[in-house]
Amino acid sequence: MKAPELNRDILSLIEDRLIRLLEPGKPASLFEPMAYLVKAGGKRIRPLLLSLSCACVGGRMEDAIDAAAAVELLHTFTLVHDDIMDHDDLRRGRPTVHRKWDEATAILAGDGLVTLAYLSLIQTRKRLPEVLDVFTAALLELCKGQALDKEFESRSEVSQAEYVDMIDQKTGMLLRASCVIGGLIGSGNPAQVKALEDFGRTLGRAFQIQDDLLDLESEESVFGKPQGSDLVARKKTSISIHFLTHAEPAAKTAFRKLLDSAVLDRHSIAEARNLFENAGTFREVRTWVNSLVDEAVRYTDLLKDNPARDSLRRLAHQIQDRVS
Ligand code: IPE
Ligand code: IPE
Ligand code: MG
Ligand code: MG
Ligand code: MG
Repeated sequence: MKAPELNRDILSLIEDRLIRLLEPGKPASLFEPMAYLVKAGGKRIRPLLLSLSCACVGGRMEDAIDAAAAVELLHTFTLVHDDIMDHDDLRRGRPTVHRKWDEATAILAGDGLVTLAYLSLIQTRKRLPEVLDVFTAALLELCKGQALDKEFESRSEVSQAEYVDMIDQKTGMLLRASCVIGGLIGSGNPAQVKALEDFGRTLGRAFQIQDDLLDLESEESVFGKPQGSDLVARKKTSISIHFLTHAEPAAKTAFRKLLDSAVLDRHSIAEARNLFENAGTFREVRTWVNSLVDEAVRYTDLLKDNPARDSLRRLAHQIQDRVS
């Protein structure tokens, strides 16, 4: 089977499983908001990574499906709560759960999704204790990363090293865990699981840096989120940190002045984008993403040459080209 067909097959298996897990239940005030965001689509990168990692080491896709659905449900839970934390109104082009309903509903829908994720995960028949350990450890790391991300909003200086640590936790850990869990379920040997772990961690870093870029570069209608929302929330991102480390003093002063203004509107976001463009920040951050993707792909050299490995590599390259 060729790489694109393999991805199509996995995606359709995952969609069916998600729909089944989210069958309408009672009360609707819990189950509707739980299903809402899952059904709004999404790239399904984590379940794809998990299933391909399993296939890559010679495992069967059917053995990985419970865990694949679990990582997507866990991811959706983090999005529902992340949008409350980030005060975002749009997700996947639709009103966020707390805007369509209210915060109490969104908190509970998130709780329901994380529980459903565990219920699916524990159906896994292969190496369950290790799988549970990796999944749960990733969730705690993700919470730590989210805490740091919030903490950084009110700090004026954040180093690049601190930023990288924070994104490794808030985003990288779940991508890494998806790859490791796939490798475990597929009965990969320790060297293969380690290669998948390095691949997932590095790809996760590239993925979040690209997400920072898209926050400023992508159109709302394509990205499904308003442009500049990181700036509005005073997030410390790869863009702002790179700019504040490398730009000319006058440009930095202009940017700091923007950040000090009470309200950041469309004009200030456009002004910030100009500052970043003129300082070459976008170009350099894009180069950073590309080099991380290349590094991630190099780790796959340690895996067997098969269609699943081709698919993993294609997915990695799609991440650097993605617009949503
Ligand atoms: C968004 O993740 C949150 C981040 C970790 C950057 P995705 O970009 O994978 O979101 P969906 O699932 O495709 O909507
Ligand atoms: C994503 O961080 C991390 C998690 C959801 C855990 P962001 O806050 O950058 O994600 P988006 O941009 O809202 O998707
Ligand atoms: Mg967010
Ligand atoms: Mg966030
Ligand atoms: Mg973001």
